[in-house]
Amino acid sequence: MSSVWLYNKKLKKWSKKFKFGDIDGDFCFDPKAPLSDPLVNAISNDLKIDKEYIYASAGISQLISAILPLSRWEEIFLPSIEFGLYERTCIIHNKKTTHIDAVSTAEFIEELKTKNSSENSLLCISSPRWFNGEIFSLAQINEILSIFKGYLFIDEAYVDFSNNPNHLLDLCMKNERIMIARSFSKKFIASGLRAGYLITKLRINGLRNTLIPPHSISTHSISIIVKLLNDTKLLKSFDSTRKYIMENRDYIYDNLNGFDGIKIIKSSANFLTLIFDTEEKMNKTYSKIKNFVGVNKYNINNIFFIKIWIKNLLFSKTIVNSIIK
Ligand SMILES: Cc1ncc(COP(=O)(O)O)c(C=O)c1O
Repeated sequence: MSSVWLYNKKLKKWSKKFKFGDIDGDFCFDPKAPLSDPLVNAISNDLKIDKEYIYASAGISQLISAILPLSRWEEIFLPSIEFGLYERTCIIHNKKTTHIDAVSTAEFIEELKTKNSSENSLLCISSPRWFNGEIFSLAQINEILSIFKGYLFIDEAYVDFSNNPNHLLDLCMKNERIMIARSFSKKFIASGLRAGYLITKLRINGLRNTLIPPHSISTHSISIIVKLLNDTKLLKSFDSTRKYIMENRDYIYDNLNGFDGIKIIKSSANFLTLIFDTEEKMNKTYSKIKNFVGVNKYNINNIFFIKIWIKNLLFSKTIVNSIIK
């Protein structure tokens, strides 16, 4: 499809006046050739995965909203502490939901063993987890596949801040019970572009026709992301930012784990979570760092925790010093 903005003289002049560049006010979706989507093609080249297994979306949020309500899922299993859209989607669509209470991934698996599931069950987990950034290892995902009878929706929104972002791709290509959801929101610090994708061998009837206008990803966003994916220089700079964030995250972990009863589980995300036995202890630590942007406290099901979004080294050092002084 081509947008009127690209050839109408008046509109072109207007976008030039305001330095908007070439404005494409359209959607990419071509119902006659859905696999011609440039984003699907760019991801396919990048990951060396056949494009028929890749579904472009307006972020992971659109995938959650499209996949969780499907009638094939009789029951949805969710961690008790998870990105809120999962719970909200289940409530809106009246889905039977089972919650898994666990602080660590190892506890999560033990708790999952106590639940009954069927081939019509869907388990949604973020990995790295929204809660504490802990990533499920390949061995743990294999264990989950052996104890859980249904399908897995693995949300990898934060995976770019882990040591091996592609560690589940081979398994996903071998096992159609796995869906992997990914986002450009965190990787390219571009959540407003609304861009993400799903990788799966599972055939969900009509899925590609669900991720279409008007809620789908815009041509504008696609053209930016595709250019980014093809720009090796810029990708290298994103990669060094990513490594810098990881180092600054680990700096806080190394200096605070165990201090004054603070428990931290190693994070593979761009944030770190401090966990406390009591609300009082949490509030004491929170009072020392509450004025920093990107520091939030939570009490979810009596799990008391503070999430810290990682920035530069000075920020990490200031956080550590503020807490231990
Ligand atoms: C675990 C998790 N999944 C998904 C999302 C939303 O991703 P997107 O911007 O791609 O819709 C978020 C956003 O914070 C998140 O934390």
